[in-house]
Amino acid sequence: MRRCPWKPLMPSPVHEERHMNKQTESFLNKTIAPDWAAVGVSRPHESAMLHVSGEATYTDDIPELQGTLHAALGLSQKAHAKVKAIDLAEVKQARGVVAVLTASDIPGTNDCGPIIHDDPIFADGLVQYVGQPLFMVVADTHDNARRAARLAKVDYEELPAILTPQEAKQAQSFVLPPLHLTRGDFKHAFEQAPHRVKGELYVGGQEQFYLEGQISYAIPKEDRGMHVYCSTQHPSEMQHVVAHALGLHSHHVVIECRRMGGGFGGKESQSALWAAAAAIAAAKLNRPVKLRADRDDDMLVTGKRHDFHYEYEVGYDDEGRIKAAKVEMVLRAGYSADLSGPVATRAVCHFDNAYYLSDVDIVALCGKTNTQSNTAFRGFGGPQGAIAIEYIIDSIARHLGKDPLDVRKVNFYGRNDDEGRNVTQYGQKVADNVIHELVAELEADSDYRERCNAVQAFNANSPVLKKGIAFTPVKFGIAFNLSQLNQAGALVHVYVDGSVLVNHGGTEMGQGVNTKVAQVVAHELGVDFSHVRVSATDTSKVANTSATAASTGADLNGKAAQDAARQIRERLTAFAAQTWQVDPATIRFANDHIYADGIAEPFADLVQKAYIARIQLWSDGYYATPGLHWNMATMSGNPFFYFAYGAAVSEVVLDTLTGEWKLLRADVLYDAGNSLNPAIDIGQVEGAFIQGMGWLTTEELWWNKDGRLMTHAPSTYKIPAISDCPRDFRVKLFANRNASDSIHRSKAVGEPPLLLSFSVFFAIRDAIASVGNNKVNPPLNAPATSEEILDAIEAIRMAKAV
Ligand code: MTE
Ligand code: MOS
Repeated sequence: MRRCPWKPLMPSPVHEERHMNKQTESFLNKTIAPDWAAVGVSRPHESAMLHVSGEATYTDDIPELQGTLHAALGLSQKAHAKVKAIDLAEVKQARGVVAVLTASDIPGTNDCGPIIHDDPIFADGLVQYVGQPLFMVVADTHDNARRAARLAKVDYEELPAILTPQEAKQAQSFVLPPLHLTRGDFKHAFEQAPHRVKGELYVGGQEQFYLEGQISYAIPKEDRGMHVYCSTQHPSEMQHVVAHALGLHSHHVVIECRRMGGGFGGKESQSALWAAAAAIAAAKLNRPVKLRADRDDDMLVTGKRHDFHYEYEVGYDDEGRIKAAKVEMVLRAGYSADLSGPVATRAVCHFDNAYYLSDVDIVALCGKTNTQSNTAFRGFGGPQGAIAIEYIIDSIARHLGKDPLDVRKVNFYGRNDDEGRNVTQYGQKVADNVIHELVAELEADSDYRERCNAVQAFNANSPVLKKGIAFTPVKFGIAFNLSQLNQAGALVHVYVDGSVLVNHGGTEMGQGVNTKVAQVVAHELGVDFSHVRVSATDTSKVANTSATAASTGADLNGKAAQDAARQIRERLTAFAAQTWQVDPATIRFANDHIYADGIAEPFADLVQKAYIARIQLWSDGYYATPGLHWNMATMSGNPFFYFAYGAAVSEVVLDTLTGEWKLLRADVLYDAGNSLNPAIDIGQVEGAFIQGMGWLTTEELWWNKDGRLMTHAPSTYKIPAISDCPRDFRVKLFANRNASDSIHRSKAVGEPPLLLSFSVFFAIRDAIASVGNNKVNPPLNAPATSEEILDAIEAIRMAKAV
């Protein structure tokens, strides 16, 4: 019989819902805990309804306090110059202007750099790119502030500017010392190899193009306190930067972020400028100040994905197996270091992609250029490292007249028991390799071989339209290279009515981390998802958080929240066991109930009794990823907790007269492990794939000869639209369990699928190659814009003519 002598203190919607659930009733009669899983279940994003109804509050939607002022930045018009004088008289007299601030108005340090402190908030005497903030106007309205900012008269003394990574290399102008990783003996292996190839490649950068631009709203609080609402992936970093800029301690500053309208890496470090500037003005004027970037200013001021230039030499055998590989990559760091060091490190650590490279020599140079300081972007250098080896393999295959997939296969890391071929160039053992099985499954599912034949048959009869197809894999390391960043905290509150509030250190940018963390907590406490709410990320709740980045948001914060929820569950278990006089081992939390032999008590009821018995109903939780180490000096160690895998097949049709093309079909298989939420993960895979496709095809950043970014709005910078998605888009998750003890054995999904868009780029290259009977390698750089494609077709025709 059911033993439940207490009535809940107050009826809650939780209870009503429960009573309506017939299935629950039958469990109650049996008093047997049902199978329970709140994870591994597809469910909509926790804010989906709010997103589509327009109710979701972004930073700019927060009701403004009385007296709020609006700020705009005054930007450098020169790429590299000494600032001899700034005349701000007209700015100050402009309509609605309250104050104009420059570097000398900063009470603390004039710096917003994340690692190396070479990023002034306001340029002081020297400007290093067109768009660098020089001063800030604070006015009654956003519009007045922007108009006034244009009225400054700046006297510049121009200095020579370096505008490309190649020029930076030539001038030996770097923001950081070179990175160099070697294994084996490249020189010897290269000389011994039966075939050799040498070449160059350029892969352009990419604007993050979050839909919500950079924004901060700073509100002064009593006793020098500062509260900043900031659209940021890294609240703790914003807290440090604001505290330093104001000459305060961290405990004076609170950063809060409920959600971002996209971050994509662009709000990891580069939200700092906006947070610091708004806070400086708010502190100085003792009034709330909002700084919201217009799209053009956002694109002119902030850094992007690093463009890379590669020079490579590779030796290989008759099968296409790589025997020796050497690459020197120079990336466009921009004027300061920002995150270029870690981005370059990840590029070096992903040059192997899914392939075992025995003898390698990899160099990465962070070129200092007079352009925006480049930063994180989905994949964080991983895509830039891996695309180089994919380009090389694609070229090898064409040279040998083999199917590129076959060449990829002979180069794959060995299966997990293949001791000879399962250690990466940085010394980590690949112990969870599923690439062989995953690729075999996709090869069969996508009818890859038949479609290759069909593409050839089509091309034989089609002089103008040409089809192309490509199959590319991915292996991506999960964790921050810098081990210390792999930690997280969370708070779980169970209120007396049985409802649950979670706070964790991760930030929500659309990727669904809050949904996944709420699922984890619901699972742990055996309550329905609807009873768990996640509140805004707030530095006064969880301290010293890492950026939500490197795809680790759900991995780290999910584990931390699980730890907190588990502690509460354990306390409730002990209490129930004592109350009911049962063995704690028999107690189960499921279906909004707590079960023991012959007992089923509603969760909310037990919680009330526990409160009365003075049991702590909230807990903190903490997680640190185990087993990680990384030696920056030798570029070796065990930087990753595990690897995520995937593969994709893309088929395109190309108009060889105009360079226009269309992605006809894409098949994607991604290893999300034991997915926490398959619907969200599939959405992430689709989004990353299309975003990557934009990077490699239409998104072209173009600076004029004076170093001014001319593609600073959607009119000139083309991101993919819904119409660019393939009509036939088949995205599936690979059935797998993480070999590492990740949260419910799931795997990260945020970034790795971006690399699957390589298949689109190589399908285009395949279509171009068909113009030359697939014998000549098209010299195709990224983005493969129509112009670039036409140039490559021209090169193929010329080569054929020779
Ligand atoms: N998805 C959406 N919708 N919006 C975003 O800004 N950022 C990506 C990815 N997916 C992003 C996104 C990037 S760069 C990262 S590192 C991860 O989400 C971060 O979130 P996670 O670690 O919780 O997956
Ligand atoms: Mo993602 S580039 O690690 O923010």
